[in-house]
Amino acid sequence: MDRARLHALLARESAEAERRNPRSRAAYARADHLFGRVPMTWMNKTAGGFPRYLAEARGARVTDVDGHTYVDFCLGDTGAMAGHSPAPVAEAVHRRYAELGGATAMLPTEDAEWVGAELTRRFGLARWSFSLTATDANRWAIRLARAVTGRPKILVNSYCYHGSVDESLIVTTPDGPGAPRPGNVGAPCDVTLTSRVAEFNDLAGLERELAHGDVAAVLMEPALTNIGIVLPEPGYLTGVRELTRQYGTLLVNDETHTFSAGPGGCTGAWDLAPDLLTIGKAIGGGIPAGAYGLSAELAERLLARGDLDLVDMGGVGGTLAGNALSVAATRATLEHVLTGEAFARMGTLAERFETGVRDGLAAHGLPWSVSRLGARTEYRFTSPAPRTGTESAAASDPELEDFLHLYLANRGILLTPFHNMALMCPDTTEQDVDTHTEVFAAALAELAG
Ligand SMILES: Cc1ncc(COP(=O)(O)O)c(C=O)c1O
Repeated sequence: MDRARLHALLARESAEAERRNPRSRAAYARADHLFGRVPMTWMNKTAGGFPRYLAEARGARVTDVDGHTYVDFCLGDTGAMAGHSPAPVAEAVHRRYAELGGATAMLPTEDAEWVGAELTRRFGLARWSFSLTATDANRWAIRLARAVTGRPKILVNSYCYHGSVDESLIVTTPDGPGAPRPGNVGAPCDVTLTSRVAEFNDLAGLERELAHGDVAAVLMEPALTNIGIVLPEPGYLTGVRELTRQYGTLLVNDETHTFSAGPGGCTGAWDLAPDLLTIGKAIGGGIPAGAYGLSAELAERLLARGDLDLVDMGGVGGTLAGNALSVAATRATLEHVLTGEAFARMGTLAERFETGVRDGLAAHGLPWSVSRLGARTEYRFTSPAPRTGTESAAASDPELEDFLHLYLANRGILLTPFHNMALMCPDTTEQDVDTHTEVFAAALAELAG
């Protein structure tokens, strides 16, 4: 990579973004009352120095306040995997909120049992409870795992992401118990007191940590998706299940992103058998919703424990969790939008996307890799594809990423601002994918000079 050339290209694309987006730039400059000028600090993770402001979004399209329409492969970093405002969800939300009324009334609705049964059909876990975010689903799963095992620690994979969960902010160190993930904000205590860490795809490392006998649960994505996509090697997930059983540790699959693998995520697609499963983002069709599932046996053990306050202030509840609006949106999303047929189409499109990227890389002889997990595709600046989170983290190149994101955005294509992830939704078309293939190839040609 000619760094001077990359630097010049990034400067050119930044200038172009400023020229194209005067209203977004002005709105950002005016946002004096927001912490970091944005509604949420991560919205500053954007190439070009300011975020594009949203005007409208439908299906696989987003339009910004400057009047540019984009093919959206970011899809709210999975929150909009059902497409933006799909009609069945819009109708269900309107009916619940405007016609029937009662978004949140501290009373259950019958939709919840429908959703629970559907989640059981897809993921296999027998009992379900709701949250508003995947972060909370993970937090509550962790609390339950600690309660039922009486063990203090949670094991995660290095460079995982499970939301703002304190226990997950740990990375491996060459020799030793791991260290706080760089940048961890406001850690309550030394993370090695609450957590253990192993590399993804490393069963020996996992066993070494589990052998201490103090791990309540392994919390993991069946494939890492937040440090690029890191796929499991043959036998790895079977080994994780065997080791967790052997050492009396519960297994929690976080399917928030790996849901892209199919209607039942990786758990359904690969016939996995976790004790708990967490999910959020896409299941509400863009309306905040999350859920965690438990095996029947685990649910019974927990409910039999009279000492645990599962009803009042014991730490596994949110007032708005399971509200009628979120549950109605989740039912509509699962019943009508993110169906088996939709996943089949989305997977085929992601394969086409992957082929387009591969062809572009081959044409320019670039030593990058591309990985796919159902409807989700991602390229990394290294080949072969990384085996662990640490290897994948080492391959990141923020300047190159910024250039690609800006080059694509200036030509009407959005990727997730975090790494190079592209996701398909039921409204994505072959033409959308081919547009990316063309623009991506043009970006590579510019880099080659
Ligand atoms: C695997 C995984 N789990 C949990 C979360 C947290 O989701 P939320 O921010 O909606 O709570 C994320 C967010 O990216 C995620 O990727």
